[in-house]
Amino acid sequence: MKKKSKLSKKKFLPVSKPQVSTHDIRVITKTLKKGWISSDGPEVKIFEKEFSKKVNRKFSIAVSNGTAALEIAIKALNIKKGDEVIIPNFTIISNAIAVIKQGATPIVVDCDLNNWNIKIDDIEKKINKRTKALIVTHIYSFANDMDKILKICKKNKIFLIEDAAEVIGLKYKNKYCGSFGDISTFSFYANKQITTGEGGMISTNNVKLNDRCRSLRNLCFGAKDRFNHEDIGWNYRITNIQASLGISQLKRLNSIVKKKMQIGNYYYKKLIDNKNIFMTSPKISYSKNIYWVVGIVIKNKKILASKVIKKLNTFGIGARPFFWPMHEQKIFKKMKIFKKQNHPNSSYLSRYGFYIPSYLELKKKDMDYIISKINKLL
Ligand SMILES: Cc1ncc(COP(=O)(O)O)c(C=O)c1O
Repeated sequence: MKKKSKLSKKKFLPVSKPQVSTHDIRVITKTLKKGWISSDGPEVKIFEKEFSKKVNRKFSIAVSNGTAALEIAIKALNIKKGDEVIIPNFTIISNAIAVIKQGATPIVVDCDLNNWNIKIDDIEKKINKRTKALIVTHIYSFANDMDKILKICKKNKIFLIEDAAEVIGLKYKNKYCGSFGDISTFSFYANKQITTGEGGMISTNNVKLNDRCRSLRNLCFGAKDRFNHEDIGWNYRITNIQASLGISQLKRLNSIVKKKMQIGNYYYKKLIDNKNIFMTSPKISYSKNIYWVVGIVIKNKKILASKVIKKLNTFGIGARPFFWPMHEQKIFKKMKIFKKQNHPNSSYLSRYGFYIPSYLELKKKDMDYIISKINKLL
């Protein structure tokens, strides 16, 4: 007992911590020494090629972050004012931002309490002749049922953008998530399965979309006369330094995913008997949970996640709240988007959901300490 309270005073267990290996440092140093430090260098191309191979796509386009990837995806699909794009209500704001920045309208669908992903049965209720695309986001590394999603998109002739930011290395059946969308997007932020510090990727099998995304990433420079630009693009390039880190990290993706699964499965096994909380299961018929984050939802509505997070922090345990739903965002209320809407599942998750430390070097004894504190609080 004494030992445990000593631990809480001495160290803080963060929710995530990037893993930078000596090999990572070696390759970055090598790139720096070669002088290829901007986006114009061989490593960017190698990273894109290796990534395509990994997720089984024809083309990948490395960009500065996952939000940039989504913005490019929307514009590349020619989505504009008057168009509607269906997105999850319980997600990162980047999904909505990408749509709004092109003048189109995001239409939100509530989430499923069993897996926190978009409620598939409600998607078609929101489709009309203005609907151009669906953004499907694999929330907290739990795979959406892609057969059902693809069927909806095909039947209604709408594009699928697959936001795979949180699921690099996750499989749906025997195919990698991120290999299903007309365009799929990824993030390499420091808390993701693999990181480039900041960074992102767009993947597609379509030649024209590949060309368009490449152009949009790089200011739409003229094909013939370089400085006679063809459209309004962005500088959303990634550096060669980041790409060399990405190549190195990608090499150990399988072992990273394996370790994250071990951590998630351990927590699940030890916490499953606590009837006051809900966690997504390690396995369902079509996929295995790779636990990008280990999320916990409090069943007792008298206990807010914010209270539990504060308490865990005092024990030296990092914990973070879940996403805040789109229809309750301050900025969207100001903009009068999603007016008078009610999405009870996302509202519930945002108030009663939180996630706990699951970084790769987390020790079993630290997990046991975290588990004991959660069981004590809940
Ligand atoms: C599902 C999802 N999509 C997109 C993003 C945006 O990625 P980035 O932070 O690289 O812009 C994130 C960020 O964590 C995310 O979780």
